[in-house]
Amino acid sequence: MIVPNAPQAAADVARHYDELDEAYRRIWGEHVHHGYWVTGREGAAEAAEALTRLVGEKLAFRAGDTLVDIGCGYGATAAHFARAGAEVTGFTLSEAQVAVARLRSESGLSFDVRDWLANGLADASFEGGYAIESSEHMEDKPRFFAEAARVLKPGSLFVVCAWLEGESATTWQVRHLLEPICREGRLPSMGSRADYEALAAAAGFRLVSYDDISRNVRRTWSICARRFAGKLVTDRDIRRLALSKATQSRDFILSLPRLILALRNGAMRYGVFVWEKA
Ligand SMILES: C[S@@+](CC[C@H](N)C(=O)[O-])C[C@H]1O[C@@H](n2cnc3c(N)ncnc32)[C@H](O)[C@@H]1O
Repeated sequence: MIVPNAPQAAADVARHYDELDEAYRRIWGEHVHHGYWVTGREGAAEAAEALTRLVGEKLAFRAGDTLVDIGCGYGATAAHFARAGAEVTGFTLSEAQVAVARLRSESGLSFDVRDWLANGLADASFEGGYAIESSEHMEDKPRFFAEAARVLKPGSLFVVCAWLEGESATTWQVRHLLEPICREGRLPSMGSRADYEALAAAAGFRLVSYDDISRNVRRTWSICARRFAGKLVTDRDIRRLALSKATQSRDFILSLPRLILALRNGAMRYGVFVWEKA
């Protein structure tokens, strides 16, 4: 498990997404997750939708199922599943994100600003759950899994898309890529595939499948870096956000080249886990 040199708390994660709200939406869009390229010819928005569809296929939910979206961002994935008949409850730490999510018009959606680690949900109250790129931000990863196991009904599926430490990351890669990515991206820790599998098993999950889709998602960051460079020239708000010392989260800019490199050289992996609540 990679742990950054400076501790990262839930308040730091909330500030990151609140401060960078406009930047995320103007540069990447309403999905705050990697794109998933299958043919390689997809546009960025299409690739982001494709990751949502992949999670939906893995969840294999039916119309009427209740789903919990752990770290729901702007609610784009939840809305996609609601259009297929699911009832989705989403939590984020960001006020800015929930304000956008609540503007969605699909029925069967509910969004709240709430820490997943103290979610207050009833035991065995959901028929499926998913966490797309949010587990990395959780300070207490055993509790992240324990809470998922608690609120899911027996037999439910739990899908997690996660940034992972590559099993063979070198000391140089940890020092110059993974540790700074954790610090600049407000990740209290970054686990490996083995860490996640052990934590999930301890919480009572049975592994159904694991897919390493690093090669399919890695194009995300070169597109973001290119778009960000363009916005610095054309978008006064983004330029002000990036250049102002008052923007505490602007060090994430330094992670753009690190992420490009880490996903290319295998220091960081992108995994999709499917577990079943025993
Ligand atoms: C990279 S974004 C992903 C958003 C969304 N899943 C998506 O794919 O568009 C990470 C999300 O996790 C949320 N998050 C991180 N830690 C959380 C926590 N402890 N409780 C609730 N949400 C959390 C953040 O607020 C943010 O919405």
